[in-house]
Amino acid sequence: MRAASAPTPPASRAPAIAPALLRWYDRQRRDLPWRSQSSPYRTLLSEFMLQQTVVATVVPFFERFVARFADLGALAAAPEDQVVALWSGLGYYARARNLHRAARAIVERHGGEIPDDETALRALPGIGPYTAAAVAAIGFGRRTFALDGNAARVIARLGGVTAAIDKPATRILLRAIGLRCVPARRSGDFAQAVMELGATVCLARKPLCDACPVSALCAARRDGKTLEIPAKAIRRPKRLVRVASARVRRQGRVLLVRGKTGLLAGTWMLPAAVVEEGGSSAAAARSALREVGIVARRLTPVGSVRHLFTHRDVRAEVFEASLAASRAASRAWPAIGDVAAGATAEQLWIEEGKLGEVPVSSFLRKQLALKRDKSFEPP
Ligand code: ADE
Repeated sequence: MRAASAPTPPASRAPAIAPALLRWYDRQRRDLPWRSQSSPYRTLLSEFMLQQTVVATVVPFFERFVARFADLGALAAAPEDQVVALWSGLGYYARARNLHRAARAIVERHGGEIPDDETALRALPGIGPYTAAAVAAIGFGRRTFALDGNAARVIARLGGVTAAIDKPATRILLRAIGLRCVPARRSGDFAQAVMELGATVCLARKPLCDACPVSALCAARRDGKTLEIPAKAIRRPKRLVRVASARVRRQGRVLLVRGKTGLLAGTWMLPAAVVEEGGSSAAAARSALREVGIVARRLTPVGSVRHLFTHRDVRAEVFEASLAASRAASRAWPAIGDVAAGATAEQLWIEEGKLGEVPVSSFLRKQLALKRDKSFEPP
């Protein structure tokens, strides 16, 4: 590993950064719902949503959330399923469950008041160093610095840091440089100004240096290294995972099961199983159905879909399953009303038009949307 190079944004340049950036932010910032009306609760919610997702996607979800859960108490009091259902489509569902757990922990440990210091924030579910610093700075004006991906790029360029920004040692260095630039007042606006610059001007591939309010203070610009910085460590490709899933339909409804582990835990999915190396996808789909007590009469391959998760490249081979008539009719699985009423059912027959009412992932939607391809033969 290459050692993080010594930071060049010298102490002499650091104090000039915040005033220039804040002036620009006051003129150019996007009007976002957690900015026009700000509170610790709105900051906490927006930062959870923005952890892995871009602003444009988050805005409508944020609006829906605050309309449904006006404050932290309302969020904590809601059933988890309702919170995850409202999150449907935003992805990374662990965030929804963690947000809900964090809200409950705040009620239990802090009397419903969101804590204003990073240590207490970090002790809450789903809150890492970035979110803790963002909430402390934006929600409470604490003098700290939140280093997300955009901020890391901005600071690496301003400081001329040529080490790989995804290495822990470099993150520590970047955070130290960022902290040195935080002004005594408006630390929350400064945090958002840095993120805003990263999202709209200091772009990864095409930085718009002519529009940058701090280009005169930027070491990467001075050294002609804007495109070399940020450097990244060479990444291993995502692990490829093959799964087989089964679509079972009956009377206009499809059978879903609740995900138990992994990224999709808590969301409704097709019955599915991993296809082991050299294994048959049909056999895997059959075994997934057996797990939920179903013996398929026939499995017809439909096609395959690909979905990229953070660390996995998943290919799902989808089968249409037909059941022996007597079996299909004899099962009494819960329907959507039972789940909406709070039942903790692990299986659900649902009309596809009602998918919006329960937590589902876009991975499921892709598998349901797949049209039967006559030429498809599973490998
Ligand atoms: N990304 C993370 N937090 C943000 C914020 N408050 N505004 C814009 N983008 C963000």
